[in-house]
Amino acid sequence: MSEFKRVKPESLSGNFIDAIGSKWALLTVTRPDGSYNTMTVSWGGVGVLWNKPVCFVFVRPQRYTHEFSEAGECFTLSFFEDKYREKLAYCGRVSGRDTDKAADCGLTPVRQHGYTFFAEAKQVLAAKKLYVDEIREGGFVDPSILDHCYPKKDYHTVYVCEIVAAAEAV
Ligand SMILES: Cc1cc2nc3c(=O)[nH]c(=O)nc-3n(C[C@H](O)[C@H](O)[C@H](O)COP(=O)(O)O)c2cc1C
Repeated sequence: MSEFKRVKPESLSGNFIDAIGSKWALLTVTRPDGSYNTMTVSWGGVGVLWNKPVCFVFVRPQRYTHEFSEAGECFTLSFFEDKYREKLAYCGRVSGRDTDKAADCGLTPVRQHGYTFFAEAKQVLAAKKLYVDEIREGGFVDPSILDHCYPKKDYHTVYVCEIVAAAEAV
């Protein structure tokens, strides 16, 4: 279990292309009633939009997390040391519809100000939903992505969220 110190988003350590794409993260979304769901993500990013520090994530409509992402505004991305990789693989394989993934993995959910993240994380971003849109087939300039990524036409919903707090384990 980690102790965290708050950091400004512009002072966050690490390379988010590597962190998200190779090491993965847990996207955790909390609904207004306090219920939450978490799933592994390896697509998404961190940057600047509308003069705000943002993260953006992509959730396919069939994910249980999608229901939470539509209903809730409180998103977190939790990043972990490599030793948690099996747990992240599990959270990316099973659905919160069927089981309590955090309990199964021995991860400790922490609730703060309506956001849920994990005590074992090494870095956490808390972000408030700003903008929602759907990936559209007609938007692709390179149609080969459609064959690779959308054979079932289950286009992601895009969520752009303002990073309202960031913390790193000490
Ligand atoms: C490494 C990895 C990365 C993933 N990235 C995403 C992603 O970016 N977007 C997405 O919709 N699903 C992604 N998934 C799939 C979900 O994590 C997976 O379907 C999960 O079981 C959904 O859980 P839920 O039904 O509780 O929401 C990924 C899975 C893995 C293993």
